Amino acid sequence: MTIKIEKLPAALGARVTGIDLGQPVGAADLAAITRAWLDHIVLIFPGQDITQDQQLAFAGYFGDTGARARKVDDRPEGSELHEGIMLITNDKDGDGNYVGSLPDGEMFFHHDMCYVPEPHKATMLYGIAIPSAGGDTKFANMYRAYDLIPDALKDRLRGRTAIQTYNYHPTEIPDADGDMTDIHHLSQPIFVTNPDSGGTALYVNRLMTARIDGMAKDESDAILEQLFEIIEDPENVLQHKWTPGDIVMWDNRCSCHARTDFAPGERRYMRRCTVQGGPMVAAA
Ligand code: SIN
Repeated sequence: MTIKIEKLPAALGARVTGIDLGQPVGAADLAAITRAWLDHIVLIFPGQDITQDQQLAFAGYFGDTGARARKVDDRPEGSELHEGIMLITNDKDGDGNYVGSLPDGEMFFHHDMCYVPEPHKATMLYGIAIPSAGGDTKFANMYRAYDLIPDALKDRLRGRTAIQTYNYHPTEIPDADGDMTDIHHLSQPIFVTNPDSGGTALYVNRLMTARIDGMAKDESDAILEQLFEIIEDPENVLQHKWTPGDIVMWDNRCSCHARTDFAPGERRYMRRCTVQGGPMVAAA
């Protein structure tokens, strides 16, 4: 098999064929995949048929498996799966309880784990059962979003941080004035440098960014809305319509992602793992 990497006709993303991710990846193919990932941010590998262990082995070429925020006892999946695997599914057990996380419906744009000191640099999502309509994953190019911010606003935001939170509600904007005691939250730079590519990216999102530090709520809300409109402009977004067997790998340092709604009666079953990153690097 010969690996083939084709850029998609969108602001980000490439399709990678001619490789079986269930087999060990040779040095030349790994170098090509790594280069393509840094260049295109999101890679789609169609037609894969892999086990949990094979998925983790492929992720392992890029670093250590990312730990999940939820402790094992608190996870709907229980403890039978590898602790780095998250099921994203609306499947239920015999008692009518979900067996996975993020089961139903739309999700606003977000960066995985941006509310912890060392967010995961990569996420790999494997599509196993897919609804007939909807449940697409949308990806925004955060290098391009940074480039499109007007200069005066860029100057105003340079060196600033924003509070990132996670409140487990996929379509609610967090309230930084509310009770945050039980909610993961952390200030992160608004402009970050991806240490692997050297590129500068915008690092805020609609689901998790609650407030620009040191700004009044009204001013912060207005600026964040302006940034979200740049991020979510369809020209800046790749919308991936899943086919069973797709593995999608994305870089959380320079993209954010969202999910479109789908009918609750339609089965969606995906297996996710991540790769540990380091502290976010504030852009100079
Ligand atoms: C996620 O945010 O990791 C889930 C995306 C999806 O379900 O498409």
